[in-house]
Amino acid sequence: MWDYSEKVLDHYRNPRNVGTMDDADLIGEAGSLACGDSLKLFIKLDGNKIKDAKFLTFGCGSAVASSSILTEMIIGKTLDEVKKITNKDIADQLGGLPQQKMHCSVMGREALEDALKKFYGEDSDEWKEIDLSGKAESADKVICNCFNVTEKQILEAIEVNKLKTVEEVTDYTKAGGACGQCKGLIQHIIDEYWEKQGEAKPLTQTQKVLQINKVLVQQISPQLQKDGGDIELIDIDGDKVKVKLTGVCSGCKNASMTLKNFVESILKEKVDSNIEVEQVG
Ligand code: FES
Repeated sequence: MWDYSEKVLDHYRNPRNVGTMDDADLIGEAGSLACGDSLKLFIKLDGNKIKDAKFLTFGCGSAVASSSILTEMIIGKTLDEVKKITNKDIADQLGGLPQQKMHCSVMGREALEDALKKFYGEDSDEWKEIDLSGKAESADKVICNCFNVTEKQILEAIEVNKLKTVEEVTDYTKAGGACGQCKGLIQHIIDEYWEKQGEAKPLTQTQKVLQINKVLVQQISPQLQKDGGDIELIDIDGDKVKVKLTGVCSGCKNASMTLKNFVESILKEKVDSNIEVEQVG
């Protein structure tokens, strides 16, 4: 069961600004019923300012909450102000979303982007600034046919949320979440993106497991053994590394500090900054 923030539950149970708008100046759409989630965002303008916003969504509670908070975030703001809103801002305003539900915040950003595209026009400088990942030559190419997700959508999710694995891209965009045939292409997009940023390719899960093992055996364990302790690797689940402290470390009252300040910080530095270490057994 996912952990939802109080704010998500509040916006899900009491969604703000639900409904249609007959005299809307802009309508932004994202998702599709065929893919299981869709959002229609209606905007009423007063000059360059958003006077009112409403939404209709078909989707889960997180989609309702994301759409609801988005309308609150944009009402009263200028178009210039709202064009900077990212999916991460939407999720942050909700006090966070479970990773598997981040695609709902992405849908909110996409509906807003669609409305702004209609206002500014696709060839305008303003739109090019909004279109965070429109830099890719083939940005509109559909990568995931099951969910109709384009390269542009995947690139934007990677860029805004600093995604490094195919699983993360699936959580944020749904791409790769059905037949899985597009996973190779998604990996290629991730690799290319991070190479352009001058960063090494992110480790695959297998490489990560090997690297964690190596650091535990060659660097962490010898240090603990000096004080009569040791560490045993129990399991690796994504970025969660489950270990068991042994020897004097097992009964030590500073065990949790050792795990956080020593074991976790070395693994973060040497393998991946997202790693979290937890004690089991
Ligand atoms: S083509 Fe992407 S999951 Fe099927």
